[in-house]
Amino acid sequence: MKNNPAGAGKTALITGASSGIGRAIAGELAKRGCKTMILVSRNRSELEKVATDLKIEHGTDVFIIAQDLSESDAAEKVYAQVSALGLSVEIVVNNAGFAIGGPIVENDIGKMTRMMNVHMICLALLTRLFAADMVARGNGLILNVSSVAGFTPVPFTGLYAATKAFINSFSVALNEELDGTGVTCTVLCPGGTQSEMMKRAGLNDTLLFNRLSFLVMSSEDVASAGVDGMFLGKRIVIPGIQNKGLAASCRILSKRLSGKIGILLLANRSSD
Ligand SMILES: NC(=O)c1ccc[n+]([C@@H]2O[C@H](COP(=O)([O-])OP(=O)(O)OC[C@H]3O[C@@H](n4cnc5c(N)ncnc54)[C@H](OP(=O)(O)O)[C@@H]3O)[C@@H](O)[C@H]2O)c1
Repeated sequence: MKNNPAGAGKTALITGASSGIGRAIAGELAKRGCKTMILVSRNRSELEKVATDLKIEHGTDVFIIAQDLSESDAAEKVYAQVSALGLSVEIVVNNAGFAIGGPIVENDIGKMTRMMNVHMICLALLTRLFAADMVARGNGLILNVSSVAGFTPVPFTGLYAATKAFINSFSVALNEELDGTGVTCTVLCPGGTQSEMMKRAGLNDTLLFNRLSFLVMSSEDVASAGVDGMFLGKRIVIPGIQNKGLAASCRILSKRLSGKIGILLLANRSSD
């Protein structure tokens, strides 16, 4: 660890910290000196494992909030629990999320509702609640985890990409509003990343995660790029040259054409 790491002594809240990118972000923040962490997700036993690792490897003090962030009042409940702990949160990482594949007309209505609640409502309200305290104190860092899929409509992952477009727009607007307050909001836009997400959504048997798996990054590399960007107060972080290229192609190509690239990358190999 550096002598005076960027996160020295800070308190961070991370959603979706039980696996993948969120778990890696927790590790990265601990490496950079964060002293106290509040880890949020549904799976208490996985969070306890993460907490034990952080305690053993870095001496981090960890609090666990087992909460389903798709519940309509989840953000308020998390905020109330943090307030009850008497903690002042200096870093908020809104990372929890999941994917749904397939045609929108066949998507499960319950899953769609949960996705909009987790990716949009909870993320926006948690950001709003903690950012207000940060502005009052004159410092704070927010990292919202989006996706390169947020740069273009992606047919057959349509709702996922739309919710990520929401996160991009919301985060960039907030970052601009926060100018001069000492608080920044960074949006992290990974491309294909090794984690539980694609497996859980049945989207791992795809061109991207098989024949093109050299384009897929590790959760640790994505976390490191995101945390670097957050500490630098960057607006948008796109980890990996391949994902920067994808994002640039979304700006240059028509929405229809860039959507077709998305379809190709996420096409199920079992249909080859
Ligand atoms: N993997 C990729 O290719 C990729 C690419 C771009 C962006 N991302 C984004 O990266 C973020 C992290 O995903 P990941 O790839 O690391 O996947 P992951 O390994 O499946 O982790 C997702 C995390 O979100 C939590 N979560 C999901 N639904 C939740 C809910 N209703 N309430 C509370 N927590 C919930 C999960 O915890 P529990 O199950 O314990 O609740 C887990 O900790 C997501 O926002 C995702 O959209 C991923």
